[in-house]
Amino acid sequence: MHRKSNVNSPRALGMVVACGLFGAAVALPVAAQFSKPDSAVRYRQSVFNVMNNHMGRINTQLKSSTPNVQVIQTSAAVVDTMSKLPWDAFAPNTEFVANTNALPALFKNEAKIKELADKMQEEAVKLNAIAKAGDVKAVRTQFGALAKTCDNCHDDFRAK
Ligand code: HEC
Repeated sequence: MHRKSNVNSPRALGMVVACGLFGAAVALPVAAQFSKPDSAVRYRQSVFNVMNNHMGRINTQLKSSTPNVQVIQTSAAVVDTMSKLPWDAFAPNTEFVANTNALPALFKNEAKIKELADKMQEEAVKLNAIAKAGDVKAVRTQFGALAKTCDNCHDDFRAK
């Protein structure tokens, strides 16, 4: 998936620090878990990467002629947990962090984002439950339902 990885260049870091100072001035209580806006962005990107990795592991099993149900179960549990984590890292003061791929529209549509995030979590909980039951065919259907919720948000709210 797309990712701008310029965060390690000294120039990008300088920009992040500058934005961090700006962000601190307008920080809201919701961001209290994060020392600066840059940390919140790194946190949510990390969570999305872990979630994506485990979606990939499930997908690999679903494509296999001999899917390993235990791998599917372990990864479905990780995806379920991860699906709850990114959202409080989208505080308003993270909009201008240099290396975020979140589009400005995201910060103007809080209700819509909550709806899309809730839907994603709902489908992740279902995937975890279905995986535990061990029916690979049912897992395949639910995996598709969950993957759709990723695209539904990325289409409008993440930079291509
Ligand atoms: C409600 C919106 C929303 C949903 C639902 C969502 N994402 Fe994302 N995702 C984003 C946004 C916004 C970003 C950009 C984050 C940033 O760069 O600050 C992102 C970034 C990512 C990234 C890149 C992280 C990086 O290193 O930059 C991956 C991978 C990803 N999402 C995977 C997923 C998967 C897999 C799902 C579904 C299981 C999912 N996302 C569901 C909004 C969403």
